Amino acid sequence: MKFTEEIKVKGQLVFLRVDFNVPLDENLKIRDETRIKASLPTIKYLLENGARLVVASHLGRPKGQFNPKMSLKPVAERLREMLPGTTVIMAPDVIGPEVDRLKTSLKEGELLLLENVRFYNQETDNEADFSKKLAAGCQVFVNDAFGSCHRAHASVVGITAYIPEKAAGFLLKKEVEHLSRITHHPEKPYVAILGGAKIEDKIPVLESLVNKADVLLIGGAMAYTFLKAQGKGVGQSLVEEDKLKIADSIMKKAEDNGVKIILPLDHVLTSSLDSQEIEMVADSYPLPDNLMAVDIGPKTIAEYEKYIKSARTIFWNGPLGVFEVKAFSSGTVEIARAVASSSAFSVVGGGDSIAAIHQAGVADRISHISTGGGASLEFIAYGTLPGIEALK
Ligand code: 3PG
Repeated sequence: MKFTEEIKVKGQLVFLRVDFNVPLDENLKIRDETRIKASLPTIKYLLENGARLVVASHLGRPKGQFNPKMSLKPVAERLREMLPGTTVIMAPDVIGPEVDRLKTSLKEGELLLLENVRFYNQETDNEADFSKKLAAGCQVFVNDAFGSCHRAHASVVGITAYIPEKAAGFLLKKEVEHLSRITHHPEKPYVAILGGAKIEDKIPVLESLVNKADVLLIGGAMAYTFLKAQGKGVGQSLVEEDKLKIADSIMKKAEDNGVKIILPLDHVLTSSLDSQEIEMVADSYPLPDNLMAVDIGPKTIAEYEKYIKSARTIFWNGPLGVFEVKAFSSGTVEIARAVASSSAFSVVGGGDSIAAIHQAGVADRISHISTGGGASLEFIAYGTLPGIEALK
């Protein structure tokens, strides 16, 4: 795989795929610009080295429809502020005659931001003809969209068949270096912390971690599928009934491999999410029939901290409770502090865990904060991603 600095970009029409899938508020203001900032080094390098730069991204899941609420226009405005003195042109579309005209007339050091590539279903279908149209006129493809590399979509994978020169941008390079360190040669003990609502999204990563990690700390709603699989009464807590067998087989594999799976020891319980109030903290089973678990309790925090403290490598993805409700966020925030205080090489991925890191004010003490949620999970599971393979 080549890197941006190894290829000639001066005067070339360069197609740069980034992940500008940023959250917007109801007034279409950008709520978190981390992902835009993360690709600025690649954008600046390409512009300063004379590229004629076409930038593409998706935003949200518009399902093949033009949707003004998912337009990249707010991002173009922000880019103009972040790149003073640079001509930033917002394209009215993703492909078509007007976009082709804008591409052709682009001068060295100018940037053309295409509209949301997912306004076309052919993007997610990785359709050849659409990939060809995206590639039209471009001599170089640079992928800096780590957060999208697990998607075999047209602007990530398909396009690489139609552009002769391809390379990874600085962000993609950094993400791959850091995630490879924990995927391929983690320093032991390796502690993985997994939370979030569903096991479903995490089966491949769980299957991989029961072979590679030393300890798995499991919190969030997904812990209750594991607890129920152990025969425990979990009250109204969220359980994926159709995943009980998988949870059981993951626990068996972990046991066979000598990998510890640590589930919550005590539970912050509420009668309803809407009430936003803690009813009680329980440390014995069955949990009351009318209550649901929404956070890990103090005993669990202390137990998890013990493992985090002795770790040399930490990977964390997913909140350990209903983090968006303040009363139920303590477990996630305390774990963020513990990860930051540890001397381990720490990687955190996924929107809520990153939000917790910021809320706890400890972002500068995490070794690597990944811009990819799903992408970091899949990288840990498979050691590579379709978007990375396509660059080879
Ligand atoms: C993300 O936010 O994880 C990436 O931008 C991918 O988005 P997607 O899950 O809609 O493909």
